Amino acid sequence: MAIEWSAAAREFHLRNDQVSYVIRVLENGSLGHVYFGATLAEGKSYGHLVPGEFYGFSNRLGQPVPLEFPTGGTGDYRIPALTVELPDGSGAVELRYKSHRILPGKAGLPGLPSTYVDLGLEAETLEITVADHVAQIEVRLLYTIYRDRPLVVREARIVNSGPSPVIVRGAMSASLDLPDAGWEFVSLSGEWARECHVERLALRPGRQSVSSTRGASGHQHNPFVALTRPSTTEEHGEAYGFSLVYSGNFLLEAEVDSFGTTRVRAGINPDGFSWLLGPGAEFVTPEVVLVFSAGGLGELSDAYHCLFRERLASGPWRDRVRPIVINNWEATYFNFDEPKLLAIASAAHDLGIELFVLDDGWFGRRNDDTTSLGDWQVNLSKLPGGLDSLARKVEDIGMRFGIWIEPEMVSRHSDLFAQHPEWAIGIPTRPRTEGRNQYVLDMSRPEVVNHLFGVVSQILGSAPIAYVKWDMNRNITEPYSPTLPAWRQGEFMHRYILGVYSLYERLTRAFPEVLFESCAGGGGRFDPGMLAFAPQAWTSDDTDAIERLRIQWGTSLPYPLSSMSAHVSAVPNHQVGRVTPLATRAAVAFFGVFGYELDPTTLSVEERADVADQVAFYKQWRDLLQRGRFLRLRSPFEGDRDETAWMTVARDGRSAVVGHYRILSRPNPGPQRLRLRGLDPTAAYRVSTWPSAGQVAAGPAIPVVLGGDELMSAGLVLESNRASAERGDFRARLYVLEAT
Ligand code: DGJ
Repeated sequence: MAIEWSAAAREFHLRNDQVSYVIRVLENGSLGHVYFGATLAEGKSYGHLVPGEFYGFSNRLGQPVPLEFPTGGTGDYRIPALTVELPDGSGAVELRYKSHRILPGKAGLPGLPSTYVDLGLEAETLEITVADHVAQIEVRLLYTIYRDRPLVVREARIVNSGPSPVIVRGAMSASLDLPDAGWEFVSLSGEWARECHVERLALRPGRQSVSSTRGASGHQHNPFVALTRPSTTEEHGEAYGFSLVYSGNFLLEAEVDSFGTTRVRAGINPDGFSWLLGPGAEFVTPEVVLVFSAGGLGELSDAYHCLFRERLASGPWRDRVRPIVINNWEATYFNFDEPKLLAIASAAHDLGIELFVLDDGWFGRRNDDTTSLGDWQVNLSKLPGGLDSLARKVEDIGMRFGIWIEPEMVSRHSDLFAQHPEWAIGIPTRPRTEGRNQYVLDMSRPEVVNHLFGVVSQILGSAPIAYVKWDMNRNITEPYSPTLPAWRQGEFMHRYILGVYSLYERLTRAFPEVLFESCAGGGGRFDPGMLAFAPQAWTSDDTDAIERLRIQWGTSLPYPLSSMSAHVSAVPNHQVGRVTPLATRAAVAFFGVFGYELDPTTLSVEERADVADQVAFYKQWRDLLQRGRFLRLRSPFEGDRDETAWMTVARDGRSAVVGHYRILSRPNPGPQRLRLRGLDPTAAYRVSTWPSAGQVAAGPAIPVVLGGDELMSAGLVLESNRASAERGDFRARLYVLEAT
């Protein structure tokens, strides 16, 4: 890995064995983008790749000169990276190279989550300063390249170097120009209970984007997109990934211009945003992770998985396998007392489950969702001994104890709202819109963050609490803070999320042993910003195994299995009413951070035996499932959408767990094979199936030892549903491979 600077060619080349990123100072001083893709030879100039440089950019209005951080108003009409309003009301900016530094390692971002280095030598950072002397604006562009990852991490810092305030109206983290438009735009879109469905559409002239204006990244679009060739598959072909390390309003946008080139920009959504930059002040954008893969979406995902697991997640839980939890939400909703909870914990412990999570309803007068958010005192009529007594009883049973909180919220019917109505977000002249009967607290106010830090610290210090599920169940309306002057209200949404990050940062620092799980009505804030503090997230409120195939498949494009909580729940499923076999529910949830969301005291003897078997299976393969290489094999979004297959293979290729799922049963099916990936072609694997005889019929009579070459080239022979015991909808079969 190295960052080369050629003074003669005026070129930077960030390079490792997997990718190159080349930047050139153009003749007029603009910072030109030359190349991002597979590694190029070092010590050479690539400046001739920049078209039109010889004409001088600003004399060629609208020409597609590729630029690193484009601005508007001086002849480039494509989507800009920076939009400002200068003291005279004008907005034209032309940034020119000023200086650069090459630094070992990677620094953190003030107030924002970021990827990091453990050892200085594993990455290098290039900082280029560009400036406009007329506008008196400087921009510091930061690029980090790791030694052994196919990616570049970018961010930008906008500095007002003039004597008067400037308004930043849009500041992207990165802009990337690509020389053609033969790409498809892959995004993860959906809604509550159906997050991260994969959308893939060819780029067309004009703009295509995903974004949020909700104050959270949102259920509707994840802050991740990929550009793929039409021929790109999981295994083959080019793919670029853009993943924004941010949890608030975001924009990921591609524009195909009239010359057939593509520009992608990623950053805070300029819609509704502005930031007043006083003299000398700096605005820091969140960072964006740009991955290039020539090996399809599978390789792209693996790059994100490794980075997010190893250098975004932090604290002691980064490297620990995660406990199997039982959560009482779908078992009891708000209707519980201590004996009921202890009965659930005790039955769960008997089945091998390791941690009991007390979900919503343990505080204030909260017997439904109309009241008490903000009043974080235990409800003594439900839990007479308090949290400490309950937690210790759970520990006596042999389990760890965790709780649910929703600190950013307040109910209209709460003591907190009665005391501090001004802390709830709203515009004084308008009624506040309620969502789930609650308001959002103004996290842009330091006193609110301080209050919440005190309250949550007190809870965490009051009992042996090992885990926290931090929920967030509604989006922001009437965005406004009376603490900001009128001309700074455009800062509110970003200041809100900075307040959330500050609370997370203080709590995770004060309680490093607590495992935090983020949640926003399921996957409404499943993003890299949250993963920096909470290494796992509740993937979706939809716990139906069949719905989860699509949700978990899509979520896995950027996010590792170690970040995706997945629970087995009761049937008929509470979200869709579907009845699926218990084994299928487990076989889907195994590919995530496994747990249960049901009442184990109501299980039959057979079901209890099955759950105990599932827990034992997950414990045996947990390390592989949480930290192995996840490979998607058959997509629930393609073909007849009736089948899904995926696998997790150990990094050394010595073991793997393969999941194959058939949604609807087929009459008279033909023979089928499933080609596996990531195995050692020279190894022989012992193949066994799960569930074993007893839960459903035993697996097919496949030979027990098969070669890695055969499994990858010819494929694994799948059992068909000709056998009567295999018939029926919603079937799953796991195949476990162990090298002999
Ligand atoms: C939404 C979450 O996603 C659920 O799992 C549960 O915690 C409820 N909130 C509780 O109100």
